Amino acid sequence: MVHVHPRPSDCRLAKKLFIRTYGCQMNVYDSARMADVLAPLGYAPTATPQGADMVILNTCHIREKASEKVYSELGRLRRLKDERTATGGDMVLAVAGCVAQAEGEEIRRRAPYVDIVFGPQAYHRLPEMVARATRASAAARHAGPGVLDTSFPVESKFDYLPGASGRQGVSAFLSVQEGCDKFCTFCVVPYTRGAEFSRPVPQIATEARDLIALGAREITLLGQNVNAYHGADEQGREVGLGGLIRHLAALPGLQRIRYTTSHPRDMDDGLVAAHREVAELMPYVHLPVQSGSDRILAAMNRKHDVDDYRHAVDRLRRARPDLALSSDFIVGFPGETAADFAATLDLIRAVGYAQAYSFKYSPRPGTPAAALPNQVPEATKGERLAALQALLAEQQQGYNDAALGRSFAVLFERPGRHAGQLVGRSPYNQAVHVTAPQDLLCKLALVRITHSKSHSLEGALVKQPAFAGAAT
Ligand code: SAH
Ligand code: SF4
Ligand code: F3S
Repeated sequence: MVHVHPRPSDCRLAKKLFIRTYGCQMNVYDSARMADVLAPLGYAPTATPQGADMVILNTCHIREKASEKVYSELGRLRRLKDERTATGGDMVLAVAGCVAQAEGEEIRRRAPYVDIVFGPQAYHRLPEMVARATRASAAARHAGPGVLDTSFPVESKFDYLPGASGRQGVSAFLSVQEGCDKFCTFCVVPYTRGAEFSRPVPQIATEARDLIALGAREITLLGQNVNAYHGADEQGREVGLGGLIRHLAALPGLQRIRYTTSHPRDMDDGLVAAHREVAELMPYVHLPVQSGSDRILAAMNRKHDVDDYRHAVDRLRRARPDLALSSDFIVGFPGETAADFAATLDLIRAVGYAQAYSFKYSPRPGTPAAALPNQVPEATKGERLAALQALLAEQQQGYNDAALGRSFAVLFERPGRHAGQLVGRSPYNQAVHVTAPQDLLCKLALVRITHSKSHSLEGALVKQPAFAGAAT
């Protein structure tokens, strides 16, 4: 007779885990990994904080608005937690991510009912933190100081994380690089994420294979400076992002590769060549420039000027003429004049963007720019942002209009809002809505674009016997 041991999920009631994620894709990735770490403890993801046994806020510190959200959300969660404890239940409340890293002590002071506070590099230690936090009763914990881990451990969390278990989906994120050594004067990331670090190639390849086995057909490689990636391959040789992409492109089942976010200074020849030669690498690059004024770029400590940026764009476009570009812009950096701002608009006109993100400069505590004189008035920031966004919206609409009548491969990611509709992405990262049979979900299909909108496209399936799934 075969004796079957029950799996943990068979012998305990699953506990409910709710994670709310703010900020960038790296936080989205981290949240998925936290769920992986907590799965062996019996926690299963749930869609709302109501009734959850554990709630994690994975926070972002990049702009003031982002971090202030955390405290208002904590206020709401406190009421939920109180209700649960009042009825004899329990809810472990944790704050993770970049606000936790930057303001761990302040969170404990302003919100003492939070049980666990931990930074982006410490979440592999979650099981131990949960055990420590739940040792005391819910009532005793309420008064206590809670668990705090905002260290930058010497060990890499990636060496301790379990395999990707819960991350289904046709398009998956995979962090390959973390941290930043560039210290732009406006930015908190070097302080919240720590120094630049690249994962070794074999470790990334293993995780990519796991994701493919779970259904991923597209993987987006993530890093705060993803093109600064330099990891060791099986032979111990160092490879750049281009080399890593070639390695992953050879994995059976992986049809599309993307990466984000890049720094203009790290756009090396190996990566440019990958855009020319690797069919699986999608023709879309997010290359933040922040400003079109050399004076402001210098004050930002960006370590590149406008010419360097334009040169990087030219090299990429020579390698891949149909490349779609996106960028990040900051308006109202301290000392930005009308002429500096006009130079940013000129750069946008000269480059031509398919998509972009833009922000008002937000002074962040502890960053050098926050202490600079000549802070730009809010009203001026508002006017400049509106003008910049109008130009970018016009470019994005023009870019989408240019797709009309063209056909390209769309990877269907999810059902659309209307019955019988699927939504996928074009090679150029545009959302495409198509009336299509549900069995095309998670597959590539050739689509002809019939309508264009400011933020998405509509198209129709191109009838063909069997679409083998060329990457673009
Ligand atoms: N590593 C990337 C971007 C990281 S943060 C890079 O080097 O470009 C994402 C974007 O947030 C930045 O590109 C920038 O445009 C914006 N950002 C960062 N700090 C900001 C601040 N203090 N105020 C306004 N926007 C900011
Ligand atoms: Fe921030 Fe600059 Fe580093 Fe990007 S390169 S993460 S903007 S410091
Ligand atoms: Fe925000 Fe941290 Fe990402 S500050 S943008 S969550 S690296």
